[in-house]
Amino acid sequence: MRPPGARGRLVALRSKLTSFASGELPHRFTDVLVIGSGIAGLSAALAAAEAGARVLVCAKAQLSLGSTAWAQGGIAAAIGPDDRPALHARDTIEAGAGLCEAEVVEDIIGAAPEAIEHLVTAGVRFDRTPGGRFALTREGGHSRARILHADGDQTGREIERALLERITDFERIRTLEHTFAIDLLPVDGSCRGALVWREGSGCEIVWAHATVLATGGAGQLFRETTNPSTATGDGLAMALRAGLPLRDMEFYQFHPTTLYVAGAGRALITEAVRGEGAILVDRSGRRFLEGVHPLRELAPRDVVARAIVRTMRETDDTQVYLDATHLDPIFFRRRFPHISALCDAFDIDFAHEPIPVRPTAHYMIGGVVTDPNGATALAGLWACGECASTGLHGANRLGSNSLLEGAVVGRRAGQAAAVRARSLRERGDTRPIEIEHEVVSHHRLPQLDRTDLQRSLQATLWYDVGVERHATGLRQALERIERWIGYALDREERDPAGWALQNQLTVALVMARAAWERTESRGAHFRLDFPQRDDERWRLHRAFDLEALRDGAPPREVSVQGRDEGGAS
Ligand code: FUM
Repeated sequence: MRPPGARGRLVALRSKLTSFASGELPHRFTDVLVIGSGIAGLSAALAAAEAGARVLVCAKAQLSLGSTAWAQGGIAAAIGPDDRPALHARDTIEAGAGLCEAEVVEDIIGAAPEAIEHLVTAGVRFDRTPGGRFALTREGGHSRARILHADGDQTGREIERALLERITDFERIRTLEHTFAIDLLPVDGSCRGALVWREGSGCEIVWAHATVLATGGAGQLFRETTNPSTATGDGLAMALRAGLPLRDMEFYQFHPTTLYVAGAGRALITEAVRGEGAILVDRSGRRFLEGVHPLRELAPRDVVARAIVRTMRETDDTQVYLDATHLDPIFFRRRFPHISALCDAFDIDFAHEPIPVRPTAHYMIGGVVTDPNGATALAGLWACGECASTGLHGANRLGSNSLLEGAVVGRRAGQAAAVRARSLRERGDTRPIEIEHEVVSHHRLPQLDRTDLQRSLQATLWYDVGVERHATGLRQALERIERWIGYALDREERDPAGWALQNQLTVALVMARAAWERTESRGAHFRLDFPQRDDERWRLHRAFDLEALRDGAPPREVSVQGRDEGGAS
């Protein structure tokens, strides 16, 4: 089936965003360039530095401003007395709805206990029981209490703090804040670094023997999201322009419970609140997950998010209610200090009234195709964390597996990058080269109201490529996105806000196209017009590259490897 829209417009999808000539720009040299400073990027930086490499970490804003610091619930690891990696792997595969790569799951989940040790060694202070063991909680889809947390509900902030402190122990690690990576530099089949833009000084070339993409997700594509403003899919778009395929992009996860009061943004209310016993009810007090799934509020996220959307429709309400009134308020305050403070700030008395919540965009499950060590198809380039697709999450990520994946794959990517850097250094293969690129624009838009375009894109994704999808909405979304790409990418932007918007449009196109073509429902991808899972036709990954998108050609199809026979929805 041919995708909708006027593909003539998609010639604006180019291999670089901006014109440059390397000979005319300032240069920097490093062994390993890490783009992104969340758990995956910092784990990669530390591992590379421990292996002796000189590392440069670039962050588009302040180092601490990525999604990691916003993670509340925690990090999953099978370390409880009643738990085993095999059970954790089984739950991951069950949630992944038939698209997990079983060997990858076993590999990454099996590395979880060691990853926790690394984090503790790096200085992360996880919460402990009075007896000194790690305090563990449950989240949706986990059959055991296996979520480690810190400062109650501020796990990501504590991890980010510790890792940022730890990198200062290494003189070999340098950092650049407010440095936007515009494009990777693939030359003769290997990545030579990146073109970056620094606030105050403009474009520079960073030459690197090895580059690690750890740029996070793309929640800002949607009108409602738990993600910070930095989550604009830059790494995904950069990789695509560098010739790499993006896989499983129709699978975007919506978190069931974000606070829904005017002025609160869409603050996450961690699943761990349900893990500790809070329940979801509609405006009449009905516990609507009864009968929907045996795990009720702790069913996989896609099940809970869809049940909420259905209930909102049936009850003609803009929200549902997270009821924690039966929990001990002193325990609640101690366990969830951040959420308690949030409720106080918005005058919600969680001990006596339910908390208004609704689903919002949360996590990019698909991404740049990598192996479980973060290696991509481009020599010299690794990807890890939310921008990567290792095959761990399948069609639906199990909560708290993402910090784990970032820690495990980030370290492996950093180690491998350091090995490559050492071998290129030893061969004396360190010279910069001449690269010139000219962007030819055809459109002569006098001005582009970027805010207006971004809001239109976010509304389109939210309504037409959201929790529930349908061919009519997806077709409309694709037509709009292609039209916008036709004029907004066919111009040369000169600053990060412009490039980030171009990246968002690019990623939105892949997501909408992948969702339109997958005519079944599975995991986080739900089609109202194809509500059933269809294993015969669709138990496969699909990967789009730039050429396929431009030409409307079919994406690459890759069947699922290994023994993942299962998966729930
Ligand atoms: O609910 C949460 O705390 C989210 C966890 C996650 O997305 O992994």
